[in-house]
Amino acid sequence: MFDNSKEVFFNNHELIVSKTDLKGRITYANDVFLKVSGYGLDEIMGQPHNMIRHDFMPRSVFHLLWTTLQERKEIFAYVVNKTKNDGHYWVLAHVTPSLNLEGDVIGYHSSRRVPERDLLEGHIIPLYNELNRIEQAANNRKLGMQDAVSYLQDVVQGYAPDYHQFILTLDRLAAS
Ligand SMILES: Cc1cc2nc3c(=O)[nH]c(=O)nc-3n(C[C@H](O)[C@H](O)[C@H](O)COP(=O)(O)O)c2cc1C
Repeated sequence: MFDNSKEVFFNNHELIVSKTDLKGRITYANDVFLKVSGYGLDEIMGQPHNMIRHDFMPRSVFHLLWTTLQERKEIFAYVVNKTKNDGHYWVLAHVTPSLNLEGDVIGYHSSRRVPERDLLEGHIIPLYNELNRIEQAANNRKLGMQDAVSYLQDVVQGYAPDYHQFILTLDRLAAS
């Protein structure tokens, strides 16, 4: 699934930023996003954000991301993306709804930092392997998604009250 020679890294002090409209189409990307992904701004503006989706990412994680955003809540998630040159890069993403002064959601915003390597290898990659296995084991995509979402919720509840706290708890474990 991963060709380690094609992993792309960025610096601890850098943030990869993008914004989308309500449908997840890219409306903004910063220079770090362009540098790491290998795309020019003209190639990604207006494109659906799944254009950088990596096949290793479980569908259940994006399901959780979108249901959380639709509740107008923020979410942290570990994500691996693919680059234009068939490479990949791991991030810890913080995704939030953007509101106007009337309180309407007008788009979404994601800032991504370098993930904790130990956490990635010790917890996240094994978790995503299991989610992918569950998603593929079911008879159809919908059932697979439901099974994976409930598995993810069980894992989360072993650590914390919700997914947000789960990611923060893992982060604290890695830092200690
Ligand atoms: C602000 C924002 C940033 C996103 N960033 C990414 C990203 O970096 N990589 C990614 O694969 N999906 C990202 N997504 C989720 C995509 O919109 C999409 O749900 C995901 O790629 C799964 O694609 P699919 O729904 O076609 O399966 C982002 C969504 C939002 C709202």
